[in-house]
Amino acid sequence: MNRVDGKVALVTGGGRGIGKVSCELLAQAGAKVVVTDINPAAADVVANEIVSSGGVAIAVQHDVANENDWKNAVGAALERYGKLDVLVNNAGMSLFNECKDTSLEDWRRTQSVNLEGVFLGVRSGINAMIGNEGVGSIINIASIGALLGGVSDVSYAAAKSGVRMLTKAAAVECGTKGYNIRINTIYPGTIDSPMNDVVRDSPGWRMIKKLLPIGRLGLPIDIARGVLFLASDDSSFMTGSDLVIDGGATAGASGDILGLFDHGGPQR
Ligand SMILES: NC(=O)c1ccc[n+]([C@@H]2O[C@H](COP(=O)([O-])OP(=O)(O)OC[C@H]3O[C@@H](n4cnc5c(N)ncnc54)[C@H](O)[C@@H]3O)[C@@H](O)[C@H]2O)c1
Repeated sequence: MNRVDGKVALVTGGGRGIGKVSCELLAQAGAKVVVTDINPAAADVVANEIVSSGGVAIAVQHDVANENDWKNAVGAALERYGKLDVLVNNAGMSLFNECKDTSLEDWRRTQSVNLEGVFLGVRSGINAMIGNEGVGSIINIASIGALLGGVSDVSYAAAKSGVRMLTKAAAVECGTKGYNIRINTIYPGTIDSPMNDVVRDSPGWRMIKKLLPIGRLGLPIDIARGVLFLASDDSSFMTGSDLVIDGGATAGASGDILGLFDHGGPQR
């Protein structure tokens, strides 16, 4: 089903992980995709694969923390495809540092990519989408680290939490001004993507799926499906919303930590 047929979508951090699969799914659903990444070789591979499979895509080198790179990336979309309908602010990074060991430089780099990068994206997206014939959709990828402690480091949690209110404030502003642009946030839980390579061998990683009510780790496609939903007109009544895709992690830990149901039978 071509749920985003004819739409032009720009995805940051599209070179691997959630961004890559989002690019692929959007292309399969009919979008022309601008794959951007700080790693130009990775973005090239994804764009070429989309084109080889019959889709439409270009790759652009893009550091989301760099203001000029934003002009270039959005400029490439407008020049090549004439408009921008969907912007996915997906690029992100984590240093996985304990608070007591986090340097100011580490903190600032994390804010600069994960929060300032999203601000620059939202601002660029609004400016590009104002006056479009159709509805614009901006999708910001936060994390359940914005909603609860213990799942990410403090700089990452603070930046992602900033994304939450940035989204709501910008969504209300666009609605109030009549700009016809929807802005929503997705909160992924733990996703089996390259970002987690540094923790993949830890005991916690092996245990985590037991703690998730749904009983498995997330996959990039689980988030990409949320991206497609928010990009398409299926979500036409949603703006400023929180879409949590986390296998139930924020509903509560399963794994029966207290052995609540191990008492040998129904309690009367
Ligand atoms: N993987 C998870 O468990 C998880 C959980 C919650 C939220 N998220 C969020 O989802 C998004 C995607 O995560 P992922 O797991 O696919 O990560 P990933 O590390 O696998 O991929 C991230 C991509 O972003 C690119 N990138 C990094 N810094 C960039 C920059 N400054 N400018 C442009 N591109 C840059 C990288 O080159 C890479 O291609 C991130 O915002 C991340 O914080 C991930």
